[in-house]
Amino acid sequence: SITPVILSGGSGTRLWPLSREAHPKQFLPVIGEHSLLQATALRLQGLDAVAPIVVAGEAHRFLVAEQLHAIGLPPSALLLEPVGRNTAPAIAVAAFQALAADPDAVLLVMPSDHAITDVPAFQAAVRQALPAARDGGLVTFGIVPEAPETGFGYIKAAPGEGVRAIERFVEKPDAATAAGYVASGDYFWNSGMFLFRARAYLDELAQVHPLMVELAETAVARARRDADFIRLDPDAFSAMASDSIDYAVMEKTAEGRILPVAVGWSDVGSWQALWQVAEQDGAGNAHHGDVLAIDCQNSLAMGEKRLLALLGLDNVVVVDTDDAVLVAHKDRVQDVKSIVAKLKAEN
Ligand code: GDD
Ligand code: MG
Repeated sequence: SITPVILSGGSGTRLWPLSREAHPKQFLPVIGEHSLLQATALRLQGLDAVAPIVVAGEAHRFLVAEQLHAIGLPPSALLLEPVGRNTAPAIAVAAFQALAADPDAVLLVMPSDHAITDVPAFQAAVRQALPAARDGGLVTFGIVPEAPETGFGYIKAAPGEGVRAIERFVEKPDAATAAGYVASGDYFWNSGMFLFRARAYLDELAQVHPLMVELAETAVARARRDADFIRLDPDAFSAMASDSIDYAVMEKTAEGRILPVAVGWSDVGSWQALWQVAEQDGAGNAHHGDVLAIDCQNSLAMGEKRLLALLGLDNVVVVDTDDAVLVAHKDRVQDVKSIVAKLKAEN
């Protein structure tokens, strides 16, 4: 069976004012009744998988534990990082945790902050990718790109069908390069989900970061259990370099594989992306909470606290929270992070 690994780091500043450092977007019910983290765990139901290993920052330990208990899907291990060191170390400690229970463990690595609307298609893709992973491949799931976004990894797949070799993996290219990749039609986005043997990942990682692999093993071996929590050894963990799986492993490995998928994937990286995956009415409005909209189109409105009334608006985002309200044109939502930067600079 598969060992799922759910990564819960990151802060998601582009969904301000809902997403905050203390409460990043994976903990928010942005799409439906469940948070993105809960939806990630629920999406595994029906796969031949054990309970997930979750890797999270110390500060979010209660949120993670409570949200997963609330849906009756507690993790097999909740590994707590004393500091964030990006995804390569987070997956390395999860790999050692998994190997202790199963020396042949195959990991399904999943970000906690993505949406997938077609869960049966996602599960079918995981099953389809499993033989290649058992064979030692590091499999990722490719998404047909929609725009020359610079925040993604771009993958050139070898010709063929189904699971294929990766010819090239380029993490976060500049805008001109990304535009060329999208125009060529030869590239997929890296979805950030991976399927591989824990051992295969550690072997590839050791080529680039041998010390990181040693420290990850130590961080797990010397971890301290405290009720629901497993605190990774702070000395070993903090001594690791900060790097992502994409730069450290996927750009370099010869064992990379890709399965192109159509699963309704979104990284929910902006209000625009959230609007796209949210339920819309006939006029393209997505509303959450107590919202009254008259003669509005393609708008996104969210708020729990009071009535939001919108009149005669096109392509507008309104997000109401206790201490801040965002009103923005939908074409400008990529710049929400500049609001956050400005607020940080002023405080
Ligand atoms: N536990 C833990 N610790 N999780 C982390 C850490 C960390 O230090 N850093 C990031 N994560 C989690 C994030 O919460 C997210 O769920 C996932 O790992 C990926 O990290 P991001 O920081 O969101 O990566 P990215 O969006 O810049 O890029 C990745 O995802 C893209 C798709 O959304 C890459 O894999 C790209 O190649 C990919 O296209
Ligand atoms: Mg991301």
